[in-house]
Amino acid sequence: MAIDQDITTREDIEQFIRAFYEKVIRDETLGIIFTEIIPLNWELHIPLITDFWETILLDNPVYRKNAMEVHYHIDRIYPLGQEHFESWLKLFNSTLDEMFLGPVTELAKKRGAGIAQLMQHKMNLLNDKL
Ligand code: HEM
Repeated sequence: MAIDQDITTREDIEQFIRAFYEKVIRDETLGIIFTEIIPLNWELHIPLITDFWETILLDNPVYRKNAMEVHYHIDRIYPLGQEHFESWLKLFNSTLDEMFLGPVTELAKKRGAGIAQLMQHKMNLLNDKL
């Protein structure tokens, strides 16, 4: 079926996030982080990540936490490098492309890349100070 729908609802985001994490947990580079290093409670994590993207993509401020902090914590116990961020972005973008098409989908890709870059940059700064 041709993909001609953009992301318009929270349900769209949740559907996309579930598909993304199915890929992430099977990924050679990333899987272990979500299954062994920080075993996640998916029934809590999926709504939280959906909140995060709803805030960004649908302009509805339901996510009020600091997403950076948890990643600094992960980086301290399991250093995150270029290869992790590249895999994350590749899976994130390919999941979006398989499901949606349009300006909100493009915004998701742009924000995903921007936040990933900022996260890596901040981690490098923090690690250099140690
Ligand atoms: C190498 C790349 C990444 C890895 C391995 C990773 C891994 C994780 C893990 C394991 C958690 C759960 C932490 C916990 O509950 O203790 C988490 C939470 C989260 N991640 Fe990532 N992440 C990555 C990149 C990103 C990026 C680029 C974004 C945003 C664009 C993002 C957004 C989030 C958000 C919003 C949460 C929830 C934070 C909260 O507790 O409020 N992650 N991530």
